[in-house]
Amino acid sequence: MKLFIDSANLDEIKSAVHSGLIDGVTTNPSLVAKETGDFKKILKEICEMVEGPVSAEVTALETEEMLRQAEILSGISKHIVIKVPLTQAGLKACRVLTDKKIPVNVTLCFSSNQALLAAKAGATYISPFIGRLDDQGQVGMNLIEEIVEIYQNYGFSTQILAASIRHPEHVLRAALAGADVATIPAKVFQSLFHHPMTDLGLEKFLKDWQNTNFKI
Ligand code: E4P
Repeated sequence: MKLFIDSANLDEIKSAVHSGLIDGVTTNPSLVAKETGDFKKILKEICEMVEGPVSAEVTALETEEMLRQAEILSGISKHIVIKVPLTQAGLKACRVLTDKKIPVNVTLCFSSNQALLAAKAGATYISPFIGRLDDQGQVGMNLIEEIVEIYQNYGFSTQILAASIRHPEHVLRAALAGADVATIPAKVFQSLFHHPMTDLGLEKFLKDWQNTNFKI
């Protein structure tokens, strides 16, 4: 499973990328709104940091305007993936962009039927929002499992990008369900490294080693 960082913060992205384990980045208008500076410059800097896809979202509601924005965003770097919302206009834009070989991430997916439509529109990625479904009292992970099954049934090549991930358990469940990618906040990424038994085990190894005369 690929791991993307869900952030528009340069420091967060830089530190996650230094781990050597990050395959890409997703941004969205809310994440970008937390940052200061020039949007396009921020995107360019992210693209220079990451050897992989960087999702940048259009903010228009009509297909034509989405396509105009997509052209500008695509011009920033070859790493840019155009994020469009899961609306009729968004899927129309998805089809046009896909036909032009521009990669598309269809975002704000909350149902399996929506995911089916996105695959038929040729999306490179579909982003089901797990955490936001959980917030509504539903089991977000069921959506990932259904989409995996549907895409397998018909051999769709659209990659399932588990989004709106809130904690390590979401990452684990997405991996078990067979999601192609999980996009995770920097804080959740850092927490994946830790286990108290690793810390205790390391402490004991080092203590025992210090009681010897051995050297490496
Ligand atoms: C995905 O691409 C989105 O940016 C993101 O995962 C949304 O997560 P949220 O529900 O925590 O805002």
